[in-house]
Amino acid sequence: LGGLSQAERAALLDEMDLYYRLGTSLRNVRSSAKRIASHVKSLRSYARADREKRTDVGVEEGLEESLMLLNHKLDDIEPVRAFGSVPTITGFAGELNQVWTNLLSNAIQAMAGTGTLTVATSAPDSSHVQVAITDTGPGISPADLERIFDLHFTTKEGRVEFGMGLGLTITRDIVERHNGTIEVASRPGETTFRVTLPVSGVDATAIERKD
Ligand SMILES: Nc1ncnc2c1ncn2[C@@H]1O[C@H](COP(=O)(O)OP(=O)(O)OP(=O)(O)O)[C@@H](O)[C@H]1O
Ligand SMILES: [Mg+2]
Repeated sequence: LGGLSQAERAALLDEMDLYYRLGTSLRNVRSSAKRIASHVKSLRSYARADREKRTDVGVEEGLEESLMLLNHKLDDIEPVRAFGSVPTITGFAGELNQVWTNLLSNAIQAMAGTGTLTVATSAPDSSHVQVAITDTGPGISPADLERIFDLHFTTKEGRVEFGMGLGLTITRDIVERHNGTIEVASRPGETTFRVTLPVSGVDATAIERKD
């Protein structure tokens, strides 16, 4: 699994501290700072020994919490829920909420105020749960598609949107630590990120440190 090592996480935390302070001079200070703060929180939570306990997690509850958190950013974006009846999974609720929040905020940013945000859950078989988040934004070019999960890859370098290229790196890390997979399909006008998680979720090997 290509995840972040403890040393990489520590370096990132230092770096983000700097960005956080730099952020105060940026135009969209508040949303940048909030996003960075939330990345810091997720890196910290799983870098610590006193991380949260594994529990039964309802993915729909997590999605609803994340949607509520991002509600003020929707503007004219219409959220559509297509929830199937899916079982709970064993995992870390807070980390999984970071996954949903990162994917939803990317989708919302891509649509820049108008479009349809579809959040779907399904059970492809009796031992897996799938979450698909679809937006009607401009899509991701084939060249960018190969790099979006890379650490620090971002196209949000403008004055209005500021990104660190961390959201998807952290997202994939958390998904893989839950023994899941993440896939993306994108064309102009339709981008879907699909996360597949085993119902058994995190096991002992997934929690083990890589370093
Ligand atoms: N739904 C989407 N539609 C279009 N492009 C996307 C979408 N999701 C991700 N991307 C592209 O992938 C890049 C990397 O995403 P990622 O979440 O890792 O970083 P970011 O959003 O730029 O910054 P950060 O998440 O650290 O604030 C984005 O800059 C954007 O170009
Ligand atoms: Mg992002």
